[in-house]
Amino acid sequence: MIAKSSHNAEPGAVGRTTRPREHHFRGSLGRFATGVAIVTFDGATKRHGITVNSFTSVSMEPPLVLVSIARSTKAHDELAGRPFSVNILGAEQKQLALHFAGRPGPDPVWVEGATAPRLSHVLAYFECTPWAAYDGGDHTLYVGEVVDFNYRNGDALAFANSSFTTIPESQLGMEELL
Ligand SMILES: Cc1cc2nc3c(=O)[nH]c(=O)nc-3n(C[C@H](O)[C@H](O)[C@H](O)COP(=O)(O)O)c2cc1C
Repeated sequence: MIAKSSHNAEPGAVGRTTRPREHHFRGSLGRFATGVAIVTFDGATKRHGITVNSFTSVSMEPPLVLVSIARSTKAHDELAGRPFSVNILGAEQKQLALHFAGRPGPDPVWVEGATAPRLSHVLAYFECTPWAAYDGGDHTLYVGEVVDFNYRNGDALAFANSSFTTIPESQLGMEELL
């Protein structure tokens, strides 16, 4: 997860005022490579989207997933008790990631999901109904029950060491040596 203090800067960039320990903590967390997702949902008065890398699968039965949302974000309060979609981004969707991280670009193309709005042409999606929300310090852990999902082929967008990168769909591994 990336707190709001850095969202208007280059992703992961740290402002001059950031305390050294927090800087070091962020840098240490950044060594954990993740995918990139966008949480989308209809709030009371508007449609929301927020870029996250805190997506985690939680349970198979029931099927549960989790996202950690900073209390300081516009989406935070409105997400409570509402259905949402998690859109996993493909390698070519960096602009979409930036769009929903405070750097608006071209208007995204929406899909009216049966449970919650989602984005078109993503690598995978999970439509969720609200399951639980847990206190996570300056974030809230929102757990959703997956009611619909799908995926397509393609390379994944990834985030590591404060930079976007690509994870190829398939790479030859040990099997080549056998
Ligand atoms: C790669 C990346 C990952 C992010 N992960 C999270 C996250 O897991 N949780 C979170 O609350 N914000 C995360 N952010 C920051 C939010 O996307 C950003 O604060 C967003 O613009 C807040 O929306 P708002 O301006 O509507 O409040 C991430 C940003 C980027 C670029």
